[in-house]
Amino acid sequence: MLRVGMLTSGGDCQALNATMRAIVKTLAYNTEGKLEVYGFLDGYQGLIRNRYTRLTQEDFAATLTHGGTILGTSRTPFKELDEPTSDGIQKVPAMVANYRKLKLDCLFMLGGNGSTKTANRLREEGLNVIALPKTIDNDTWGTDMTFGFTSAVEVATRCIDDIRTTATSHGRVFVIEIMGHKVGWIPLYAGIAGGADVILIPEIPYDIDKVVDAINEVHGDGERYSIIVVAEGARTKEEASLSKKAYKAKVAARVKPSVAYEIAEEIARRTDREVRVAVPGHTQRGGAPDAQDRIFATQCGVEAAMGCLEGKFGFMVSQKKGKMCRVPLEDVAGKLKYIDPDGEVVREARALGISFGD
Ligand code: F6P
Repeated sequence: MLRVGMLTSGGDCQALNATMRAIVKTLAYNTEGKLEVYGFLDGYQGLIRNRYTRLTQEDFAATLTHGGTILGTSRTPFKELDEPTSDGIQKVPAMVANYRKLKLDCLFMLGGNGSTKTANRLREEGLNVIALPKTIDNDTWGTDMTFGFTSAVEVATRCIDDIRTTATSHGRVFVIEIMGHKVGWIPLYAGIAGGADVILIPEIPYDIDKVVDAINEVHGDGERYSIIVVAEGARTKEEASLSKKAYKAKVAARVKPSVAYEIAEEIARRTDREVRVAVPGHTQRGGAPDAQDRIFATQCGVEAAMGCLEGKFGFMVSQKKGKMCRVPLEDVAGKLKYIDPDGEVVREARALGISFGD
């Protein structure tokens, strides 16, 4: 009998159920049903408190297209891992004890950067852990792709498409704020797919004068409207030169709700144009996974399950140059994958005349 645990951790995404489905189907098929799956509820919280549900293939019958996670999720910050819960439970010892109590052979952890750090810690404690790269942000080191990313790009692109029609009617400048935390993968890809005039990402700090110049140029060429896609983590050159602490303090002291509103106000002040802001927010994590995500999630699930069946643990499933592979968890845990400002995609965007405001 193979006994495995599974949990989804951190911000959700569209392809979590599709990934778990592939793990369970692969394990069930290859063990001829000699399988017990324990799905921990609400991320690591479930493992800490031994709250789980038993899962079978049937539980995943209609979940390939369902976004979110049937297990629920939560954020369990790594930096607080060695602090007890409010009711006094020591988190790491509790997780190890619950894994052992259930006599698990392996724990599948679907999560992003912070969550892989915790998974690596459990690996160091002697648990058999396999991590799967989940996040819409695509910022996980050691893999070219994370599941959730293409679906989020799709939603963000649709938002830009929708804004375009109203921007055209009114001849307005639109600033559209796209998720991505500290990196610019979704804004860069959605910005290109949506035909943005300006894309501002954290990896390329901007100068507001250059952004205004770019907008004036678009309108000077006779365009009625313009579109600026801004990453939620975009920073000015001045902000980029601040220490981490000073930058955090500046963001915390923000009078406007977010960076998009600051930029919109600056453009309105420096031009005579009507400027509006659109923030698709969590819709970027919602709805059904797109076809590419369903395929990639399935590949990740199969690769993870095969690793477990081979008795291989302590890795994260990854895709490099289109090939599925496994990377040691300790090499990737918690490391961010940034966009190369001189890389191919940025160069191509610049070749199209897209401004990065730098
Ligand atoms: O990591 C995914 C993500 O959606 C980021 O893009 C965003 O910064 C963050 O999560 C939002 O977190 P929350 O759901 O906690 O508001």
